[in-house]
Amino acid sequence: MALAKDFLWGGATAANQYEGGVFEGGAGLSTADVMTNGSHTVRRQVTWKKADGTEGSTPLCFGSAERNLPEGAVPCIIEGDKYYYPSHIASDFYHHYKEDIKLCAEEGFKCFRLSIKWSRIYPNGDDAEPNEEGLQFYENVFDECHKYGIEPLVTLLHYENPLSLAARFNGWDSRHLVDAYVKYASTCFKRFQGKVKYYLTFNEINCIEECPYVTAGLIHGNPQNVANAAFHQFLASALTVKEAHEHFPELRIGMMLAYGPVYGFTSDPADQLLAKQAENKILFYSDVQMLGTYPSYKLAEYARNGITIPAQPGDMETLAKYPCDFLSFSCYGSHVVTIHGEDQKAGEGNGAMAQTVANPYLDTNAWGWATDPQCLRIAVNTFYNRYRCDIWCVENGIGWNDEFADGTVHDSYRIDYMRANIQSLKDAAEIDGIPVMGYLYWGCVDMVSNGEGEMAKRYGQIYVDADNYGKGSMKRSTKDSYYWYQKCIRSNGEDLK
Ligand code: BG6
Repeated sequence: MALAKDFLWGGATAANQYEGGVFEGGAGLSTADVMTNGSHTVRRQVTWKKADGTEGSTPLCFGSAERNLPEGAVPCIIEGDKYYYPSHIASDFYHHYKEDIKLCAEEGFKCFRLSIKWSRIYPNGDDAEPNEEGLQFYENVFDECHKYGIEPLVTLLHYENPLSLAARFNGWDSRHLVDAYVKYASTCFKRFQGKVKYYLTFNEINCIEECPYVTAGLIHGNPQNVANAAFHQFLASALTVKEAHEHFPELRIGMMLAYGPVYGFTSDPADQLLAKQAENKILFYSDVQMLGTYPSYKLAEYARNGITIPAQPGDMETLAKYPCDFLSFSCYGSHVVTIHGEDQKAGEGNGAMAQTVANPYLDTNAWGWATDPQCLRIAVNTFYNRYRCDIWCVENGIGWNDEFADGTVHDSYRIDYMRANIQSLKDAAEIDGIPVMGYLYWGCVDMVSNGEGEMAKRYGQIYVDADNYGKGSMKRSTKDSYYWYQKCIRSNGEDLK
């Protein structure tokens, strides 16, 4: 089966890493706006103050085992030079959206993925009325996309929550967020009717276990809080699907999973079992969102650990009745796990888990992320065999400390990465016969990295002149990979030379 004629080629972005304009247009702050910059070796921090005036910072970010702010600490921006907050300027899409969308259109994009900053629409998350300026901003962006025949794909929540909800309710730990979110989603459905057809409810919903602050706004994230938050997000997603099906039947609502195939390092059955368990840890989230029930392995794990699910009467029926319309996923590479890891180099990268070791067969970038030429094919097979659903790869890409010279970047390493990954996705369609909705390259325009909060880890096919502190002209320039992807899209994936 060849790729469909209407295969959705394009790129993906997220407001907290790309949009900037944080203090403009009546927006409220989000949890990302109090996160400092970092690097491969320095963790990002969440800054806070206490009522007695004490202030400080805590690494509640990806890669850190910390799950709590100190008692009484309220996350906030600390004025002065001590901390830098990369989301405030980011790549300044807020002022450059026309230019960026035009460049993406010339590259051949059929689809552009962006996230809406919830606190730009409802500044505190649960205000009585939405912020008109925020709605207008996104409407302008969607109009600009349609001017070029580009279909927007909107993530309703991508790694930021209204800060006020985090501070007042410990984020998604509270059921209060369910209704607030559904109201926000419904506001978007209504306002953007006819302009947006595809929505994703929660970006990388499974990363809640790895980083409950970033995904779910938890400032106190013990295992019970995390289970509560996951349940509330499942419920909110199901109610959002219900809202769409009942009032906006033209919409398609997807779930979004962070996935990387997990390999056992040795043929020791214990390693293979470990790999299956690690995959289940990921697939629990798609099991609930695509099949509508909690799987037995998770219920048993919760029971062993004394964790309860905060379901009220009727909630489980809601989950069962309103699974998502399609499954979307991010995949950057794969993971290797073993019980024999003592002498092995620890694995790194997106979603690296305990007992992860480096794969000796794969190359890695400077941040330890391995390129796996088979990962998309394996991902798509895993999902299709389990769910028989529509599948869309909405994130795949490689970060690199690009060298900008003579107005461009010669990023052959990025082209090699894309060639291998797109071929792998095509193999899933052509050899394994699985229909795939589309492919979106992550970070098509350079933006701040999520894990490190730095600009140096660039993914883009379009270069942005800004350094790790948002200094620079913000001028956009095309890289070699831009022209390679343009050729690939023009040929509907036939020309990968
Ligand atoms: C995904 C996220 O996990 O990976 C993105 O959805 C993120 O927000 C991307 O940017 C790449 O990760 P990073 O940390 O290199 O930016």
